[in-house]
Amino acid sequence: MRYELAGSTWGEEERQAIEAVIKSDVYTMGSNVREFEERFADYFGMKYAVMANSGSSANLIAVASLFYRKENPLRRGDEVIVPCISWATTFHPLQQYGLKMKFVDVDLNTLNMDVNELKKAITKKTRMIVVVSILGNPCRFDEITKLCEDNNIILFEDNCESMGARFNGRYTGTFGLVNTFSTFFSHHISTMEGGLVLTDDREIYNLLRSLRNHGWTRDQEPDSPVFERRSDDFFEAYRFILPGYNVRPGELHGAIGKVQLGKLEGFLKVRRSNARHFTDLFRDDERFLIQKETGESSWFCFTMIVNPETGTDRKKVLRKLKEAGIEHRIITGGNILRHDVIKHYDHTVTKSANADTAHYNGFFVGNLPYDIRDKIDYLHATLKTL
Ligand SMILES: Cc1ncc(COP(=O)(O)O)c(C=O)c1O
Repeated sequence: MRYELAGSTWGEEERQAIEAVIKSDVYTMGSNVREFEERFADYFGMKYAVMANSGSSANLIAVASLFYRKENPLRRGDEVIVPCISWATTFHPLQQYGLKMKFVDVDLNTLNMDVNELKKAITKKTRMIVVVSILGNPCRFDEITKLCEDNNIILFEDNCESMGARFNGRYTGTFGLVNTFSTFFSHHISTMEGGLVLTDDREIYNLLRSLRNHGWTRDQEPDSPVFERRSDDFFEAYRFILPGYNVRPGELHGAIGKVQLGKLEGFLKVRRSNARHFTDLFRDDERFLIQKETGESSWFCFTMIVNPETGTDRKKVLRKLKEAGIEHRIITGGNILRHDVIKHYDHTVTKSANADTAHYNGFFVGNLPYDIRDKIDYLHATLKTL
């Protein structure tokens, strides 16, 4: 049996959406992207969504937008607290914008930033906390939002791997001033490549729309608060106000996004049913630490951290999985401190022992938006004897 990390969720409806775009002959960002953004914002109960060509680009323009706010913008050299475990492009834009990163260890049970360590790491210099609900598992947003409010700190949510998760009934990716999502292939919905930023802040919304699109004014709301329109149409047509990018999505991505968003609820239901099965089988297996759910996870995958005290060796486990055709990989990007890129980051570290344990002793196997309980049984049988 093959147990894969990810699989396609596209079917006839996505193909029809693609064909409708081809028929319309409009491929660059247009009405499909706009409608997808509106539906996405509605779904999550937020005012504004801006789609980009990836979750990484969503992170990039979200960070950038905070530098161009009129009041209290971020500045180069400001301190930002980040978790040791996330995807590389959670961190790269922070480095590219000259922020100093303070790395905080993760909780080994949840794999999210350890809130006690976070409390100790906050100083008067802290301007922003970047929180990442790892692999569908919500962070402790009750405590984290309070810390941000009490200390006047910006909350940035990189929610790229946790669409559909909830904490105290509220969706992750709605707690931050800016909140990012990925719609890459293996994620909760897929436009193959794509990402979004959610915000309730109108100024940030207009900044994002400019930053995504050459830094120009063409894509602004009629009464945008980020620039004053002038009367000369000739110059207004090509007017640049910010050092922006071109990270626009295409119409195909917007059209497919609309179809996939309609399927999200169903996908989540199945992912959660698979997760119950996985958890039932491995909850009491002392050889592995599995991710402990906080709130309602959207279960991107199933993490397993080998407990060496039980005489279990990750190398042996991975060999067995490989022989059995069970795909597996590092947990998100592992501990970023253990990657070569760290030498390019302006950073300090408080603690990272748990992130190291996850990096050196952990791995994950896939969860998919269809019933894979037989594959999970196969995993269980494969690992019965090591
Ligand atoms: C936490 C996190 N941030 C950012 C990204 C980047 O998203 P994308 O692959 O769409 O660029 C990912 C991708 O998996 C992620 O997991």
